Amino acid sequence: MRYHLISVISVLATIPLGSLAKPFSPRWDDMRIKHSWNAVPENWESLGNPLSDTTIDLYVALKAHRESALIDTLYQVSDPNHPRYGAYLSKEQIAELVSPPPGTLEFVNSWLEYHGVPSSSVSTTHGGTTLTLSGVSIMQANALLGASYQLYKHVETNETVVRTVGYALPAALHRLVQTVAPTTCFSTPHTQWLSPRNRSVGVTAGLKRPVSGEPVTVLSSRYDDDDDDTTPSFLRSLYKTAEYTPAAADRNALGIVGILNDYPSPEDLAMFLSKYRTDAPDAAITVVKVNGGGYDPTNPAPESNLDTQYTVAMTYPTPVIFYSTGRGPAGTTDWFISWLGYIFMQDNIPRTISISYIMDERKVPEAYATYVCTQFSMLGALGVSVLIATGDDGVGKGDCVTNDGSVRFYTNFPATCPYVTAVGGTMNLEPEVAASLSGGGFSDIFKRPDYQEQAVTAFLQRLGNRYRGKYNATSRGIPDISAQAMDIPIYLEGIYRVGEGTSASTPIVASIISLLNDYLISQGKVTLGFLNPWLYGPGKSGLTDITSGSNPGCNTRGFSAIEGWDPVTGVGTPDFQRLLRVLPGSA
Ligand SMILES: *[C@@H]1O[C@H](CO)[C@@H](O)[C@H](O)[C@H]1NC(C)=O
Ligand SMILES: *[C@@H]1O[C@H](CO)[C@@H](O)[C@H](O)[C@H]1NC(C)=O
Ligand SMILES: *[C@@H]1O[C@H](CO)[C@@H](O)[C@H](O)[C@H]1NC(C)=O
Repeated sequence: MRYHLISVISVLATIPLGSLAKPFSPRWDDMRIKHSWNAVPENWESLGNPLSDTTIDLYVALKAHRESALIDTLYQVSDPNHPRYGAYLSKEQIAELVSPPPGTLEFVNSWLEYHGVPSSSVSTTHGGTTLTLSGVSIMQANALLGASYQLYKHVETNETVVRTVGYALPAALHRLVQTVAPTTCFSTPHTQWLSPRNRSVGVTAGLKRPVSGEPVTVLSSRYDDDDDDTTPSFLRSLYKTAEYTPAAADRNALGIVGILNDYPSPEDLAMFLSKYRTDAPDAAITVVKVNGGGYDPTNPAPESNLDTQYTVAMTYPTPVIFYSTGRGPAGTTDWFISWLGYIFMQDNIPRTISISYIMDERKVPEAYATYVCTQFSMLGALGVSVLIATGDDGVGKGDCVTNDGSVRFYTNFPATCPYVTAVGGTMNLEPEVAASLSGGGFSDIFKRPDYQEQAVTAFLQRLGNRYRGKYNATSRGIPDISAQAMDIPIYLEGIYRVGEGTSASTPIVASIISLLNDYLISQGKVTLGFLNPWLYGPGKSGLTDITSGSNPGCNTRGFSAIEGWDPVTGVGTPDFQRLLRVLPGSA
């Protein structure tokens, strides 16, 4: 317990001499603000105190002892040019890298004991980065965090959450605790894939799109309603996966994160497959309920149907797992953190994960974003590829005028996390061009990672002074990769509908990555893991550079897609056959 003493004493060094008389009881009542907004975040209104029996699962995220150890290792195992490439970590090795300074757990526990939190309700989660306090009453949470938790309603969506406008921690805990959640992050991730439109059979003028001399599809020619639509058959042909037969379906899987009580319908999936994959009559998905998540297959959501229909149609017979993440009573849950906590406990984590839920980065507290991003980096270190949509509002929705009257573009989290692969949108072919909705730009939280330094700098040099001040020239740029986003058909409640968005591009790219992983597994090789160092390096020659189109928004024309990386389409769109040839270790 020697370490314990050292850490307590160094913490006490910042405390006035008078309290040294009781060296083992820091002043837990010396509270300092950890994060606070100036006012209730825009579009939320208080409904007063939550019901008195409301409880929260509080996540107390601890800072790592060796701050950069995890990220350094992530880059080593993800960089095809590094000797450690592909030496993915075990959960135990990750726990070692992210462990808090010695003595931290005991120290934090003494704070919890002081407040009467029973030790039976405290567990270590998220690969050892987090203490989860289960079933904390609102009164106790308010006392622990000097907070004022209330029930808030979103004025547009009517969604309710239990949050606090600010919170504090004892001074002695500030340098040990990264963040506590749920606290001040009001924003909940959303999908923009809400209302795919009807398309009546036989109405469209059949303008069949050829793909570099290959027949588009045999399947769609039996129907005349989808000639203009971006069907799975079209995508498999365009991105060159149609000829590939998965060979490691018994050892591979693709995961889809579902939140907001969105569920897929197996019946709609069956209808979709009977149209686009007649060779996959038995294809099914597995639905896993996380944190009390529900599943009502008779009440499907567009996003869940989209994600499952495309991944299954493109990767069959690869198993597809849909995670229905629960909301907690009265909106007490943090979606991403609960899903991440769940996934780290699993022995078999799908090698490829698709996430089409995002939130406006401006509304995300920085410490929260940093914590969630670290969790994604841990998935990368385990060898998991995570694909996340960039959003459908180009460089930003509305006029984007800030408090000081200037215009500033914005991006969406977690796509801006440097340890995930952000997916933008394209359309058309010959040439394939940027979809104008494609979310893209620069983070205001995460600095530019090395793997994209060259690519992004080249873009910024060509951009020159244009938009100066409207974006952050030193930070992480998104997207990294892109795929078709327009005229995407799905079945929803038995009806053929068509929608658009990076919500569609993301499962499409995830499917192609999953097929690459399938190939690697079948060859006895390691899977791709965190993709970006490869995508910006040798993987680049397996992508088709998209060089025209733009992503207007914020009353501007937005950025333009140009040769090389751009904040509209990233490095380009996947070409499966060419990617196969530039897989790590294949040279
Ligand atoms: C929110 O609630 C109001 C009042 O009950 C209702 O009129 C409105 O349609 C609801 N909005 C949504 C998006 O559900
Ligand atoms: C879409 O089609 C269905 C069935 O044909 C119909 O019930 C529904 O009202 C239509 N929705 C719209 C928005 O036209
Ligand atoms: C620009 O991004 C960096 C991170 O790269 C961040 O620290 C900084 O605050 C951002 N600037 C603005 C004005 O938001």
